[in-house]
Amino acid sequence: MQKSTKAIFTTQFEEEVHAGLTDFPKHLSSKYFYDEKGDKLFQDIMHMPEYYLTQKEYDILLNHTAEISELFASGNPKFKLIELGAGDGKKTKILLKYLSENGFDFKYQPIDISQNVLNGLEKSLQKELPNVTVEPQQGTYFEALEEINSENGTKKVILFLGSNIGNLLHEQAIDFLKSVQELMQDEDLFFIGFDMKKNPQTILDAYNDQTGITAAFNKNVLARINNELGGNFDLDKFLHWEVYDPETGTAKSYLVSKEDQTVSIDSLDVLIDFKQWETIHTEISQKYDDKVVAWLAEEAGLKIETEFSDSEKFYKNFVLRKR
Ligand code: AVI
Repeated sequence: MQKSTKAIFTTQFEEEVHAGLTDFPKHLSSKYFYDEKGDKLFQDIMHMPEYYLTQKEYDILLNHTAEISELFASGNPKFKLIELGAGDGKKTKILLKYLSENGFDFKYQPIDISQNVLNGLEKSLQKELPNVTVEPQQGTYFEALEEINSENGTKKVILFLGSNIGNLLHEQAIDFLKSVQELMQDEDLFFIGFDMKKNPQTILDAYNDQTGITAAFNKNVLARINNELGGNFDLDKFLHWEVYDPETGTAKSYLVSKEDQTVSIDSLDVLIDFKQWETIHTEISQKYDDKVVAWLAEEAGLKIETEFSDSEKFYKNFVLRKR
């Protein structure tokens, strides 16, 4: 039985944790994986051999640097490169280096929810690419979109890498793409990464590594509830579980309770009961095919200008324009 007298929440995190853990089946949003520790775990994931996404997108950018850069500058050579969810910028640095060394007229605006991540990125750019003008901005994608709106007058090239779109359900992805589309001018470009459908085993391995990094990443949402909301989750009493449906292309992450247990969360004044093998759904990582990408773009009022892929077609970067 769930016991709670709390009705007023002071943060969205409190409200969503309460709603998700008192719902049936239980769920928590993957956006709450990311704090300082979660950021670090995600960095580690991106370095894992199983997590092919990062390497494949890196290869695409490396093999098509000049072509992509020329495309960004076509029409109007002066542009602002706006990156949504910039992370450590490892992949983007390939483009930044080329653009900077070849005298392109651009500014770089990385946007990330984590100030910690932005500080690290700015510091590394100062050191590695001191000629690049960097204007970091902390905030959610949607706050960032408002910032983009105030940029009318400057050509925008919007980067959304890492198949971050895959953490959204199709309906949410369309809403997100639409919001970007509405803030684009005819000359603006949207450069976006999609992880494609492939051997289901390859996908399962990427989200279920033997070293347990992904498990720790998934469980970090429970660690955050413990640290920030006074929870008493015992992380060892939950299993990380991954499923992939090759028909829909949806990979889903769960935390599974290994036993009957009750968890208290002080700041929510709630007790949450778990039955043995009860689940908390925490993340979706959608995989795509060409038809679905074309459909998403169409629904959002965007058109595909061109695409870049790695040799195995594991991953694709699409260049979208307003329709
Ligand atoms: C950030 N996002 C695109 C990653 C993904 O592939 O869904 C997060 C992640 N989850 C587990 N491993 C990586």
